[in-house]
Amino acid sequence: MTPPRKILLLFAHPTLRRSRVNGALRAAVEGLPGITVHDLYANYPDFLIDVEREQALCLAHDVIILQHPFYWYSTPAIAKEWLDLVLEHGWAYGNTGRALQGKIFFQVLTAGGDALAYSPDGSNRHTIRELTLPLRATANLCHMRWLPPYAVLGVHRGLSQEALSQHASDFRRTLEALQNNRLDLARVAEQELFNNDLANLLGEE
Ligand SMILES: Cc1cc2nc3c(=O)[nH]c(=O)nc-3n(C[C@H](O)[C@H](O)[C@H](O)COP(=O)(O)O)c2cc1C
Repeated sequence: MTPPRKILLLFAHPTLRRSRVNGALRAAVEGLPGITVHDLYANYPDFLIDVEREQALCLAHDVIILQHPFYWYSTPAIAKEWLDLVLEHGWAYGNTGRALQGKIFFQVLTAGGDALAYSPDGSNRHTIRELTLPLRATANLCHMRWLPPYAVLGVHRGLSQEALSQHASDFRRTLEALQNNRLDLARVAEQELFNNDLANLLGEE
């Protein structure tokens, strides 16, 4: 039996105490065995990222997740700083850069806009999958196994406490299934979003 996958959750929210959705998703997985929650803003309030420490963390895990609120169709600033500094040439990419090869990478993001807004005819004109293309290209360059974003959309439209609890529980069950190799990742990769059709994916239907 293969050992469970170790998951590194890079958490990038500038004001955790004001976060409703990301905080709830994070709380649902924090403390689970094999999952390391690493809060980038808490660790690096001055953006002075310890590259060696971050690279060691990446090497020690099989899955790297970047969790963040969607800000200006992208990530909060510290996530960009992390990518700029940690994914070094000769380490993550380039002729000899193979440190991240084969590791799974995906984003977990929350957005104010709903699914309709993130459609070709919607107000944002593009889908979440399209808008996250730079991180897909980054994962590809770094020889990682990219999966589509796990997205909680429409969080400004009165997401009820019940719906939020459901999202949190879905997220926990998804990470547990990923740890224990119970997800069909080829199928996930083809989906528009990681968490489309989650019940089927988790074998609950
Ligand atoms: C600076 C900023 C930029 C934002 N940009 C977007 C955006 O481009 N698209 C979107 O759908 N929501 C956008 N939002 C809304 C956030 O995504 C939303 O508030 C967040 O996902 C809620 O999660 P939280 O409760 O964890 O803070 C933005 C919010 C802020 C503060």
